[in-house]
Amino acid sequence: MTTLLIFGAGGHGRVVADAALLAAHWPRVVASDRDPARCAGELLAGVALVPPAEAVRAATAIHVAIGNAASREREVAALAGRLVSVSHPAATVSAYAQLGAGCFVAAQAVIAPYARLGISVIVNHGAVVDHDVTVGDFSHIAPLVALAGGVQVGRRVLVGSGASVLPGVRIADDVVVGAGAVVADHLSEPGVYAGVPARRLK
Ligand SMILES: CC(C)(COP(=O)(O)OP(=O)(O)OC[C@H]1O[C@@H](n2cnc3c(N)ncnc32)[C@H](O)[C@@H]1OP(=O)(O)O)[C@@H](O)C(=O)NCCC(=O)NCCS
Repeated sequence: MTTLLIFGAGGHGRVVADAALLAAHWPRVVASDRDPARCAGELLAGVALVPPAEAVRAATAIHVAIGNAASREREVAALAGRLVSVSHPAATVSAYAQLGAGCFVAAQAVIAPYARLGISVIVNHGAVVDHDVTVGDFSHIAPLVALAGGVQVGRRVLVGSGASVLPGVRIADDVVVGAGAVVADHLSEPGVYAGVPARRLK
């Protein structure tokens, strides 16, 4: 039987489990975590929590559901080979978009034609990734973000909730964009940027 393992039993894991159950693509969905305290009971009704060694052995498909980019990258490296993407049935993903292995697309998110997502990218509730946008591995596009046409986002970037990135803007690896920011110009150095227009905080 096809078993999907959701690896990461925190809040983001719950969101992914909910989407996976609704997608009804995997007959069995289980969850696990490196933290033994999170490996008993259920993540959601019908999604049993099991210890990692047993869970990884039994899984035919794995989705790493950890919000923190560095932890997600570490687990993806350890669990590579069976990574699958999960999209909520209420997400809109163009047939002309490309998703790398292990991406998550939440409810009401839109991925437009010729958008390209790398490995293990999160596009959260209601975010819009418009045409010709690229998003690098392990980046997280938070709820209600708008990435306009042609935007290029690097690896391990967090674009905070509700931020807007204007057409064609490039964002370097390891940038954090604060919630509600408007990114009007390229962000070429790693760092934390916030405000309207976005300016470097750190
Ligand atoms: C920008 C951000 C990363 C800064 O966090 P931080 O490094 O802990 O910074 P602090 O909270 O110490 O704030 C530093 C200063 O920036 C201001 N600031 C923080 N976030 C801001 C934001 N989003 N926009 C404008 N100003 C902001 C603070 O008011 C503070 O100002 P002060 O020095 O005048 O008091 C964080 O506030 C943020 O917006 N994170 C995004 C969270 C998010 O959307 N996550 C997605 C979850 S799914």
